[in-house]
Amino acid sequence: MVRDLCFHMVDLVQNAVAAGARTVRLTLRDSAAADEIRLTVADDGRGMDGETAARARDPFYTSKGFKKVGLGLPLLEGTSHACNGEFDLVSAPGEGTTVSARLEKDHWDCPPLGDLTATVLQLLVTLEGINLVFSFEGDRGTFGISSDAVREQAGGLSLSHPDVYSFLGEYLASELEPLLE
Ligand SMILES: Nc1ncnc2c1ncn2[C@@H]1O[C@H](COP(=O)(O)OP(=O)(O)O)[C@@H](O)[C@H]1O
Ligand SMILES: [Mg+2]
Repeated sequence: MVRDLCFHMVDLVQNAVAAGARTVRLTLRDSAAADEIRLTVADDGRGMDGETAARARDPFYTSKGFKKVGLGLPLLEGTSHACNGEFDLVSAPGEGTTVSARLEKDHWDCPPLGDLTATVLQLLVTLEGINLVFSFEGDRGTFGISSDAVREQAGGLSLSHPDVYSFLGEYLASELEPLLE
């Protein structure tokens, strides 16, 4: 099963939202020069105790009762290791969770990045009541955006309002897209 890295980003952000997070920090570093991709998602949700965190890395565990397996985290951990990288999950009850993965970009098994611009746009406009803080760092420069900053600029309009949506789409296309390979 090959999933692009944007799929993993969405999965990690959804986990954070499901854990009751208000702020979700999504950081992506994509560097051909350093031959690495680093993905970090840090949330201020309910967190996990040690036992739950260990189970979360087990492919046969999910707290979401409607299906039998939760594959998001184990799949990303497996992919990171397959690409000579690392995977880490740090969590504490009441304090939140940080999941980070590093992969060798040049590795044969490294999944494609996927459509980052579309993914960030989709996350920003669909996560009502969440502050998504996105940062990108690439060989051509850096980019950052947060839901709360856009909300402030949008003067009370929802981020899914057509005008805000099209503004955001154009903004990401002109500021983020050129930084991608
Ligand atoms: N950020 C998080 N905060 C709290 N619990 C989490 C977080 N991420 C994952 N978990 C726990 O780990 C389980 C496994 O996550 P995952 O592998 O993505 O599978 P799924 O989301 O399909 O259950 C979740 O069901 C949840 O209980
Ligand atoms: Mg998940």
